[in-house]
Amino acid sequence: MLHKNLKPFPQTFLWGASTSAYQVEGANLIDGKGPSCQDVKQVPEGTSDLTVCADHYHRYKEDIALMAEMGFKAYRFSISWSRILPEGTGDVNPKGIEFYNNLINECLSHNIQPIITMFHFDMPAKLDERGSWSNRESVDWFVNFARILFENYGDRVKYWLTINEQNVLTLSGPVIGTLHIPEGCTNELKEIYQQNHHMLVAQAKAMALCHELLPDAKIGPAPNISLVYPASCKPEDVQAAQNFNALRNWLYLDMSVYGVYNNLVWAYLEEHDACPEFMPGDEEALKSGHPDFIGFNYYNTATVAASDGTEISDVHADQQNAQGIAGLYRAFRNPNLPKTEFGWEIDPMGFRATIREMYSRYRLPMIVTENGLGAYDKLTEDGKVHDSYRIKYLRDHIEQVQLAITDGCEMLGYCPWSALDLISTHEGMVKRYGFIYVDRDEFDLKTLDRYRKDSFYWYKKVIASNGSDL
Ligand code: BG6
Repeated sequence: MLHKNLKPFPQTFLWGASTSAYQVEGANLIDGKGPSCQDVKQVPEGTSDLTVCADHYHRYKEDIALMAEMGFKAYRFSISWSRILPEGTGDVNPKGIEFYNNLINECLSHNIQPIITMFHFDMPAKLDERGSWSNRESVDWFVNFARILFENYGDRVKYWLTINEQNVLTLSGPVIGTLHIPEGCTNELKEIYQQNHHMLVAQAKAMALCHELLPDAKIGPAPNISLVYPASCKPEDVQAAQNFNALRNWLYLDMSVYGVYNNLVWAYLEEHDACPEFMPGDEEALKSGHPDFIGFNYYNTATVAASDGTEISDVHADQQNAQGIAGLYRAFRNPNLPKTEFGWEIDPMGFRATIREMYSRYRLPMIVTENGLGAYDKLTEDGKVHDSYRIKYLRDHIEQVQLAITDGCEMLGYCPWSALDLISTHEGMVKRYGFIYVDRDEFDLKTLDRYRKDSFYWYKKVIASNGSDL
């Protein structure tokens, strides 16, 4: 739809950016923090471990000051579960509580709203040993952790996100080092969707608890949503797109918003004898969640064609590159879209299409919790990073958010990935996303000094003009 007049971004729009604890903090085994599954996993060859990351744990004041200089209204970060509860359950680590108190207070002192992700790919290692999400007790573990967060930080934190990219955990867990398949498992699909079910119940219970304890706070999920296009107008391709849309996107939002399983996904699971088992009370718990908004990560769309029956399950694909699933869909390279240096397609118009589709399905306000471009940035000798490619990516995407607002979609904020450079999920330090450059290499920690990239100055101008000067 062409609009003659664009609607402005709301005055209260939450401009900011995102990080996650295990990718940015470092200090992964100090001040009482227990290891998480990320600390004990096999680090991909040639990439750094997580002992230092961007050293945000020690430099958060400097980092928040830089965010304030850009004019951030919000900072989305995650809380490391094993920093708060070193064993995942049991004793609380006072130093962990203190660190996030300091981080939250530092944000607030600069008028930056903290948006807290409660779980971002970092199950405490002790709970991983006990089966992680495959263990039914994981529901109680998570709700207990959520209660501790609400009780300690709920007086100051107004925006909460439950589980980052639960759909990626379920569809590509091994790539990000998280999916736990118990030895001797005979039906992997059933096992995966049982774990998914536990996360869904845990999320719904955490949302209900948030509303009970913190009536003024807002809480929502944070899946990775990519609208799926059909490769052609062949009816078979359109159905394949519906299949993958259901499996990748709508399963998660239908459940968080309406508390019901998407019927296409359920039918697929039935076919494979893989439906999750419900425990007494699950049905009611799932219906009791009710998010106040939808947080979602968007990097690009996906395109699929009809399955030819030979595809293999895609748990080893990464977040944005699906392979296909026999009988459901086959991945298709969209010839209309350019790709990043790391092979992810770039589709700003697909961002608007994704937002429109979500709004028409769920009618809830939305916060973009990730969006961004991973690239090999270069620090020049005079301390600059000329990342015009990132500015272009972000500008093109913000334009589409404004078009979606003009279409009538309700948008609360935009927090791209990432506030500062940090360790990628599976491609190490070389894949940078930040507005703030962190001076380190994969293995050489160098100075860890911060540098303002060109995108830093550009984003500052965007925020100062409330999105009117792109
Ligand atoms: C999202 C994750 O999938 O994408 C982040 O929530 C991640 O944790 C981001 O870092 C970018 O992915 P990657 O693999 O390039 O780090």
